[in-house]
Amino acid sequence: MEAGANRNSAPNGALKVQAMPTFLLDGKEIEFAPGETLLRAALRHQAEIPHYCFHPGLAVTAQCRMCLVDIVDMGNGKGMPKLQTACSTPASAGMKVESRSAKAREGQNLVNEFLLVNHPLDCPICDQAGECDLQDYAFRYGSGRSEMQYEKRTYGWRNVGTFIALERNRCVHCSRCERFSRDVEGSHDFGMFLRSHELTFDTFEDATITHKFQGNLADLCPVGAITNRDWRFKKRAWKFKKAPAVCTSCSTGCNVTIQHHENKVYRIQPRENQAVNRWWMCDEGRINFRELNDRETRIAEPHARVQGVLRPAAWDALYEALGARLKELGAKGAQVVGLADTHASNEELFLFSQLLNTGFGGAAVYFRAVEGKQQEQPPPHVKDAFLYTLITTDKSPNTAGARALGLTGDATGKKVVSALRDAKVVLVLGNPYGGNGEDAAIREAAKGSQLIVQIGTHQGPWSAAADAILAACTYAEKAGTFTNKAGRVQRILPALRPPEAAREPVRILQELFALLGQPQEMGPAERVLAAIGSQVAAFKGLTWEKVGDLGTPLAGT
Ligand code: SF4
Ligand code: SF4
Ligand code: FES
Repeated sequence: MEAGANRNSAPNGALKVQAMPTFLLDGKEIEFAPGETLLRAALRHQAEIPHYCFHPGLAVTAQCRMCLVDIVDMGNGKGMPKLQTACSTPASAGMKVESRSAKAREGQNLVNEFLLVNHPLDCPICDQAGECDLQDYAFRYGSGRSEMQYEKRTYGWRNVGTFIALERNRCVHCSRCERFSRDVEGSHDFGMFLRSHELTFDTFEDATITHKFQGNLADLCPVGAITNRDWRFKKRAWKFKKAPAVCTSCSTGCNVTIQHHENKVYRIQPRENQAVNRWWMCDEGRINFRELNDRETRIAEPHARVQGVLRPAAWDALYEALGARLKELGAKGAQVVGLADTHASNEELFLFSQLLNTGFGGAAVYFRAVEGKQQEQPPPHVKDAFLYTLITTDKSPNTAGARALGLTGDATGKKVVSALRDAKVVLVLGNPYGGNGEDAAIREAAKGSQLIVQIGTHQGPWSAAADAILAACTYAEKAGTFTNKAGRVQRILPALRPPEAAREPVRILQELFALLGQPQEMGPAERVLAAIGSQVAAFKGLTWEKVGDLGTPLAGT
């Protein structure tokens, strides 16, 4: 192409980009993609139209009628005589839509009043209060009165799943639960029963839901009809502080929010990330926060084994003793073995492997190289089986990170047992090879060494075997990144306050470098990630900012 020549045929040199069509919502111009509905386009522009039944991950049924709008011009100069549901009406160019006009407001008022006909006055004891669409819309779009003069029909509540409860009096009949269980999860436990005044949503034949995605039903329910029993009546929703995180229960790394109050976690909910988990997560990940609240087995301070007994020790005293012992042993190369848990972050695995490699003259770091597979299979009629790709057989969040950082993978532990034969010093990050059977053989082999040091958070088989335990922060108390099964690097941020004497593992690892006389002052996790980005090909150019809230793929994935 000649210099200065246009890349397109526009005579004035401007790019010929097709402008998106627009419609007017309450006088504001809204762009829309072909086929997009009024509600979807409005929500993309942060414009509010009240709605219950619409959910971007579910089929549109226009069931609740809350999103009524007044289409005063269809784009052809003619208006629609009756109010329309914004969730099921495709936008067209030049439309004029009113969601605040007297006519639209009257329709919304009436729908809201109708939904409250049988609704109990439960807000003071309802777990949904504070994040309830019905409560919010009743304030903003309700009529503030009821003309109902007769007794409300009442249904009881019952447990419908392993940890969810159904309170049918509060149901607004939006059918989100039914559509999720029919189209997304596929077991179709929920159905709509009876009609008119008696209409109710329930499980077929009062069956109990047993699938592994039940928590999504509580998230989807726009009111307090389906709630999570884990925090039922324990905390008001407005008390929660929320921190973005990544689930650590398998290698998918679903994006989540850790919700806590007074340093205790009450709830984990999925955080939307279309590239990872869309709006969903599995129940195993949802309830794994119970360990974060476990104070009984928590290692809250460093420990040293003195005359065969583990005793709490001050950091300085422990480091002094550890430095002296390491000097005395003078272990290098094959005499030192590192074992890494893939629940550790990329930053920790990087520093740990550097420590073993440069600090201990080429010592190797082993991790359990699990080949994760999809664990659950969808029922044959489910068209989009995405939900079932979430749970993998690799129950750790960072196996891909360990691979990308070049640690030595050993799925069975046989290489580890053989390496431990010559080991004088064993350094353990977390709780790797922490099961029974072959893992027990690894710990047995490690007992032949002269020093076992663990960086750990909770009591377990390695802390029972260790001579020194360096008390570390859990994933909810630290910053860092994990690399998921698809090679996506994702951030975690501190949600909870760690015990006073526990430290972030990246700090502990840098202190160990200093103990060996080779200080590596990289600082916090974000600076360690920058170092990884400049030194490890797979992470080339990655920075804390680039990873952002939704993660970013490794180079070449
Ligand atoms: S579902 Fe909403 S409106 Fe109904 S009792 Fe609960 S908080 Fe109140
Ligand atoms: S239980 Fe909740 S999700 Fe299901 S229909 Fe009722 S309000 Fe909708
Ligand atoms: S959101 Fe449109 S009818 Fe329910």
